[in-house]
Amino acid sequence: MTTKTALLATLVLAVLACEKGGETTPPTTGGEATDTPTDTTAAGGDAGGGEAKTEPGAPGVKWADKTYQQRKEWMGIEVLPQMKAMFKEYDEAQFKGFGCDTCHGADGKDKNFAMPTDSIYPLPKDDPVKAAMEYDEAVTKFMVEKVTPEMARLVDEEPYDPKTKTGTFGCFSCHPTE
Ligand code: HEC
Ligand code: HEC
Repeated sequence: MTTKTALLATLVLAVLACEKGGETTPPTTGGEATDTPTDTTAAGGDAGGGEAKTEPGAPGVKWADKTYQQRKEWMGIEVLPQMKAMFKEYDEAQFKGFGCDTCHGADGKDKNFAMPTDSIYPLPKDDPVKAAMEYDEAVTKFMVEKVTPEMARLVDEEPYDPKTKTGTFGCFSCHPTE
């Protein structure tokens, strides 16, 4: 069992890492997201107040059912550290400044972290993997074999399989179309 302190520490680290990654981005949560949700959860679906206290990021609640605030916490507690480790394992030098903005773009916060972002490399609508392979085989294999399935798992979705055309989470869950 993870203690609350450990979770909080992770969250604070995540927020710090996030700030390092961005240039002028102000602190997203001020690190106090656990106890005092000071953020105006404009896009959040909760009708306001009165809910039972859940753990930060609501690990027991599926991504689709999390509030905006819980999604943000989940990103900081689970997504950022896991994906950062994975990207750094792939290329330490390129991704040493990995943060929220690596996926969401420098304007991620202004756009309420809506995905896909137009800040990362655009891919052609038809057969993005083929085009990406021609562009850079190594990074594409990393995207197909690691990034997509792992990220899908973190948001409770099935990775898209071009062969069977099944699954909901694919390249275009992050990348814009060309
Ligand atoms: C590895 C890429 C990646 C990183 C790093 C990442 N995110 Fe995300 N984030 C996503 C994706 C993909 C989605 C959309 C998931 C979905 O619904 O399909 C998302 C969704 C969100 C949402 C929900 C948006 C909505 O409309 O419901 C928030 C809030 C968010 N991210 C905040 C953050 C914060 C804050 C950080 C840094 C602590 C972060 N993200 C780091 C990929 C990332
Ligand atoms: C969870 C979000 C996410 C998903 C899903 C994802 N990618 Fe990526 N991809 C990224 C990020 C983040 C980068 C690094 C962005 C950067 O270079 O600044 C990247 C980089 C790339 C690059 C290198 C771009 C460059 O500028 O050199 C290619 C090519 C690519 N992805 C292809 C794909 C393909 C093909 C898929 C689907 C099989 C895919 N990606 C799925 C987030 C994602």
